[in-house]
Amino acid sequence: MIMRSDASPTLIRLNDYRAPAWRVAQVELAFDLGIDTTEVTSRLRLLRDPDQHEPLRLDGEGLELLSITLDGEALPESAWRYADHVLEVDGANDGSVLETRVRVQPAANTALEGLYLSGKRESGFLLTQCEAQGFRHITFFPDRPDVLASYTVTLRADRDRFPVLLAGGNPDGHGDLENGRHWARFVDPHPRPSYLFALVAGRLQKIEQDYVTSSGRAVKLVIWAEPDAIGHCHYAMDALERSMRWDEQAYGREYDLDVFHVVATHDFNMGAMENKGLNIFNAKYLLADPDSSTDDEYRAVEAVVAHEYFHNWSGNRVTCRDWFQLSLKEGLTVFREQQFSADMNSPSLKRIEDVALLRRAQFPEDAGPLAHPVRPAQYSEINNFYTATVYEKGSELVRMVAGHLGRAGFRRGMDLYFSRHDGHAATLEDFLRALGDANAIDLMPYLAWYSQSGTPRLTARGHYDAAQRTYTLTLSQHTPPTAAQPQKQPLPIPVKLALFDRAGRMLPLHLAGDATSTPAATTERVVVLDRAEQAFVFHQVDAAPVPSLLRGFSAPVILECDYAPGELALLLRHDVDGFNRWEAGQQLAARAFDNLRDGAGTSALDAWCDALAALFGETTLDPALLADLLTPPGEIELSERERLVDPSRVHALRLQLQERLARRIGGDTLLQRYEALASHTNRDLDALSQARRRLKRRVLDLLALVDADRAQKLATLQYDNAPSMTDRLAALAVLARGNAPQAGAALVHFRQRYADSPLAMDKWFSVQTQLPGDIVLARVRELEADSAFTLKNPNRVNALFGAWARNNPDGFHRPDGSGYRLLAERLAELDALNPQVAARLATAFNGWQRLEPTRHAVARAAIDALAGRPGLSRNLTEIVQSMLH
Ligand code: ARG
Ligand code: ZN
Repeated sequence: MIMRSDASPTLIRLNDYRAPAWRVAQVELAFDLGIDTTEVTSRLRLLRDPDQHEPLRLDGEGLELLSITLDGEALPESAWRYADHVLEVDGANDGSVLETRVRVQPAANTALEGLYLSGKRESGFLLTQCEAQGFRHITFFPDRPDVLASYTVTLRADRDRFPVLLAGGNPDGHGDLENGRHWARFVDPHPRPSYLFALVAGRLQKIEQDYVTSSGRAVKLVIWAEPDAIGHCHYAMDALERSMRWDEQAYGREYDLDVFHVVATHDFNMGAMENKGLNIFNAKYLLADPDSSTDDEYRAVEAVVAHEYFHNWSGNRVTCRDWFQLSLKEGLTVFREQQFSADMNSPSLKRIEDVALLRRAQFPEDAGPLAHPVRPAQYSEINNFYTATVYEKGSELVRMVAGHLGRAGFRRGMDLYFSRHDGHAATLEDFLRALGDANAIDLMPYLAWYSQSGTPRLTARGHYDAAQRTYTLTLSQHTPPTAAQPQKQPLPIPVKLALFDRAGRMLPLHLAGDATSTPAATTERVVVLDRAEQAFVFHQVDAAPVPSLLRGFSAPVILECDYAPGELALLLRHDVDGFNRWEAGQQLAARAFDNLRDGAGTSALDAWCDALAALFGETTLDPALLADLLTPPGEIELSERERLVDPSRVHALRLQLQERLARRIGGDTLLQRYEALASHTNRDLDALSQARRRLKRRVLDLLALVDADRAQKLATLQYDNAPSMTDRLAALAVLARGNAPQAGAALVHFRQRYADSPLAMDKWFSVQTQLPGDIVLARVRELEADSAFTLKNPNRVNALFGAWARNNPDGFHRPDGSGYRLLAERLAELDALNPQVAARLATAFNGWQRLEPTRHAVARAAIDALAGRPGLSRNLTEIVQSMLH
């Protein structure tokens, strides 16, 4: 049950930070585990800051206090108070030992924060999730990341019901107890904050692997899962070993305990958690097998396994001083994860994927009522700040700094950062200072990126002077005001650029005032715009060039440059920067979209279709890149460019755009390519096999726009014969989206075949939420009545409501408001069970303020009604209130 008393929005402010008055040197925890009730005994050896004189205050939420002693003496009731989630104790001194015993209720914990039950009460297992503030739901503690302590944890439980007992740290003994019970102890030699605490207990199976670090330390890697899932953990194990090796090579970072445990659960609020020595994963990001996982999911498993492992240094060894610094570990770790994935796969495809995600998830956040800086200045509920801004934009900021320092300089800086702050809680200033100090560069100007919200607009204007043979590139920047920040300042924006001649060759760059420019000048370089406007003059330019700007997406900005369609087409054909090549196509597609919308001219539309039709015939092009090139910006991205958004119109125009492309390529050509790709069908995971499946899916989607009948027949065959989930789901999507006559039978088949696979069933729910506009709502209602649906499982909730409200804008934004009302009602129900998941899902309303008037009115009414409900959690209250301001 959720405590309802804390819904008053108290704001926590970055500027109010004070060092803790009390710290904890050592923690000894003992758990007597049970499904319904668990007793937790905690002994804290306390340290007092001599300069502060506050009484001892410990966080604790929903704890039933059974006993309390200070320095071995039972405390009289007058010596302590427990109210408003704080336990205040009189008489403690530096060095005092406080012992508390509390009772908690795992099976009743539907919020999945603290200690809870995963799965059914008869067969499930117990586990914890503490970040950000779950530890206070387990025991009394100064639950803040700047209190680092050494942990000794003893678990006791019934041996039959809980044969496996795990906690973070190194194993330190185990044995039998009376009455069929047993115990196990774990000691973590590395001081750590409470949010990294974890335990797991239940009937789990394992796979193991020996690993030797580069300096020769032997480590046991163990992955744990429920019996039916353990066979699907081998890919994760492989990814873990590759991550460990990569961090040794790329950053010189080794693992530091004797064992590394990883556990999969189907009941998890987020993606995964980097608890020290005991990572816990949402099964979605750990289990992988060709029969129930798509290629994209394989790559996600690889990325998340790496991400959580990399946290061992960027997050655990060096942690955050306070939660405002969250991006210190998350932005940095996402960046490291992206580097790793780029090394394992294709760097340019990875970059395309990351930037597409940034534009789909982060730009809209930065442009709407939920906009916040990468380092927020204040929050009410910290769990609402695990956002695309803190993670994805945070990673882009690290990337800019890394680009500024260069490969060797960045490594030097990271070495200094890790050694200077090892075992401590750091800030973003510490990070920039260490990187700067190691390179004798002042990186503090980049701090402005961390405190300013909103996406900067970068405007580029080129002027060619034939007489002087100069090309002047004038760059200017402007950040539109955001919700809480009306005034914006200029930021340092690194712009990586090249110039192309009209034959598609790169020109040598002779930048005026540049000492490094020699006759053998390079063809690519970075200029930094660090004021409102600045001009860069290039010499010895023989004819008006075409600039390729922000190569590799060198800064997270929106570029505005009035290219002629032919210039974008030139870059699309010739740019050697794989990312910018794709980017030119995206810009051109957006202009083509405008052509269709405005009905005035078709020059961009023609240029886009012609260029892609030509590329379609090129056999040397990577099929995966071709698939991405053939995909125009998504509906959310296209909507961001509209002043007033009509999601149905955006949807229809985007379909029309793709239909024009499909016709230009030609149905027969598409069919031939489809058949050629289908002749290679397999379930292998090598890059080429994955790339072919990706292109095959794209080609089938395009074919469906010009010859639906034909495409649906092919899709039915592909569904029936698919050796992998990638092919099967792609086929099912064509049938379901097109509401094909064959869709019903395929969905019934899928439902039966995968009834026992929760991850596959999630896809069964999601794929049906993509039906066109007017008919999807009835389907969503049918699906929520399905016996496999439950509001208690976050993955299932996201598979149905998340996929519908986020990935099918036309189907969610019904003009009569029925979609908004349905979501608002479910949010209220969900909030009573799981506030974190409810608050996250509520962000699907983001952008409602820019809807056209009809939808705007009904969206407001639905959000108002939700806001007016009594007893909403602090989580959901904060999101809904920001949404209305
Ligand atoms: N630190 C985790 C990660 O790897 C995320 C945990 C977030 N949990 C939460 N309840 N907000 O990104
Ligand atoms: Zn993380």
